[in-house]
Amino acid sequence: MRTGSDKHRAAVVTWAIPTQSAGQNSWWLAMILCALLGAMAAFLLLVGPFDQAAVRRLVRASARTSVLLFSTAFVASSLAAFFPGVTTRWLLRHRRQVGVSFAFSHAIHLLALVLLADFFPHPFIDDLSLLGLVGGGTSYGFIFVMAATSNDRAVAWLGPRRWHLLHLIGGWTIWVIFLQSYLPLALLDPRYAPLGLLVIAAAAMRAGSVVRRRMSPNNETTGDPKCAQPS
Ligand code: HEM
Repeated sequence: MRTGSDKHRAAVVTWAIPTQSAGQNSWWLAMILCALLGAMAAFLLLVGPFDQAAVRRLVRASARTSVLLFSTAFVASSLAAFFPGVTTRWLLRHRRQVGVSFAFSHAIHLLALVLLADFFPHPFIDDLSLLGLVGGGTSYGFIFVMAATSNDRAVAWLGPRRWHLLHLIGGWTIWVIFLQSYLPLALLDPRYAPLGLLVIAAAAMRAGSVVRRRMSPNNETTGDPKCAQPS
């Protein structure tokens, strides 16, 4: 017979372990996405003059590819819970590859910032704030640690609970940085509205899936134990 705490432990474990990863053979998706991101960066830097405008275009473009990839990985399990089907199951299975591609995209953001600081330091350096550096730096720490632990060996090494906690805190930290970047921009410029709405919708979806799970009579998993994923 399962006690209350057994039941709780089972719930934590089934939600924490990414039991439906796509396996080693599916890294082709990450390779294709990273190749496309690399091509985008090369195009923006190498076509036309190498000036501050070109580097800033790469900063903005990489932030946009990052928010798309991040949001996709962030809501993959919620989408699968709300809209079970072939596409959402496929996305759930490939969430790690999407997450690692997000890390690559944001490494390009970092590379563009290094180029900006090196070749065109003003006004970039003058505009930096301590709060921005701490927030951005912390997010980068999470991004690279989360990418490095997106594999079964890391889950086994850290243990499901710690792995889940790391990815939960890291995911929401990154989300906050996207929100504080895109929300003010969206309020000032309607062209940013889709990105601002995307960031808010991602959080709403995650929160909705938690509420749904809590209200479900069998709140241990998404319903299908094989699909159990952290949300
Ligand atoms: C210390 C680290 C970081 C620095 C110094 C930094 C710096 C910048 C700068 C200067 C821009 C404006 C580029 C321009 O408009 O010309 C920018 C844009 C942006 N950054 Fe970063 N960034 C950092 C980390 C991050 C992180 C960790 C995230 C997200 C998790 C992020 C998300 C964004 C977004 C969303 C934009 C707006 C892009 C747009 O206008 O479409 N940044 N960043």
